[in-house]
Amino acid sequence: MLSSHSYHWYQYALFPFLRPDRNRLSQQLNNKTILITGASYGIGETLVAMLSGMNIHLILVARTQEKLSQLKQQIEPHVASCQIFAVDLTQQDRTERLINEVKQRYGGIDILINNAGKSICRSIADSTDRLHDFQRTMALNYFAPVQLCMGLLPQLKQNQGQIINISAVNVLLAPAPYWAAYQASKSAFDQWFRCAEPELQVSGVQLTSIYLPLVNTRMIQPTYANKSVPAISAPQAAEIICRAIQTRKPCFKPLWTIFGQLGSVIFNRWWVMGCAHYLKRKV
Ligand SMILES: NC(=O)c1ccc[n+]([C@@H]2O[C@H](COP(=O)([O-])OP(=O)(O)OC[C@H]3O[C@@H](n4cnc5c(N)ncnc54)[C@H](OP(=O)(O)O)[C@@H]3O)[C@@H](O)[C@H]2O)c1
Repeated sequence: MLSSHSYHWYQYALFPFLRPDRNRLSQQLNNKTILITGASYGIGETLVAMLSGMNIHLILVARTQEKLSQLKQQIEPHVASCQIFAVDLTQQDRTERLINEVKQRYGGIDILINNAGKSICRSIADSTDRLHDFQRTMALNYFAPVQLCMGLLPQLKQNQGQIINISAVNVLLAPAPYWAAYQASKSAFDQWFRCAEPELQVSGVQLTSIYLPLVNTRMIQPTYANKSVPAISAPQAAEIICRAIQTRKPCFKPLWTIFGQLGSVIFNRWWVMGCAHYLKRKV
């Protein structure tokens, strides 16, 4: 259910005050159909719990069947309907089947939330025999959302719908060492999305990019386990998504990214030199 969560001050600094108006959102979403990828864990799972209690039709997609079934059991009494699809979105034929099934079962889609994602933090030196790292991140973070957007476009057009891309602040800032696979794939979809925005707007489909800072989910565990890093919580991220649904604004990013973007341009050479210096000392 949509409930009030409290946050630390630094979490507000990372992504300030963006709470949805619950009653308005609930009215706005009445009888709407929302497809959420990556619904089984982390931000997606929290978002689903937050939307529960509303008269909506949910289509939940992820790989883990048991987790999806559990979620369905929990929320089904509190939503209009909930369908789950255990699909590996990196498999293009499976994604195609998902699109066809959704088209057959639902006349139109109101909101598509491209949230499923895979992150890898690995040096180039450790990746020389791991081309699959780059293929897998591109398959999930780039090709899968492109395929879903294209496949479901007629349904979204029909309902003057909205597509939300869950992106990362990293794509707006100077590229960081060890993140080549993740950042390249997230940037690729970000570019696709921004190119598509005016074209789709003409046909009444609203595109929204949400650039999140670190979020405390299982995604960051392998990199930051036992380290104290400034991160927002999954409920805070889910509230930002709810706010994006409510307002249909094109872009959500923390204010500080403006300085980060400016710094990335002005100090780019120094940034690269600083990173190289740090890595040299580390080795
Ligand atoms: N966490 C962060 O710091 C952070 C920061 C900025 C942006 N983001 C973005 O936020 C989104 C959600 O991340 P999260 O933090 O919630 O991560 P998470 O807890 O790891 O959840 C990722 C979701 O994607 C699903 N998924 C992974 N591989 C899949 C595949 N091949 N096919 C279908 N579904 C798949 C997972 O479910 P299954 O394992 O069941 O398939 C899971 O539901 C991602 O797009 C991520 O890039 C995260």
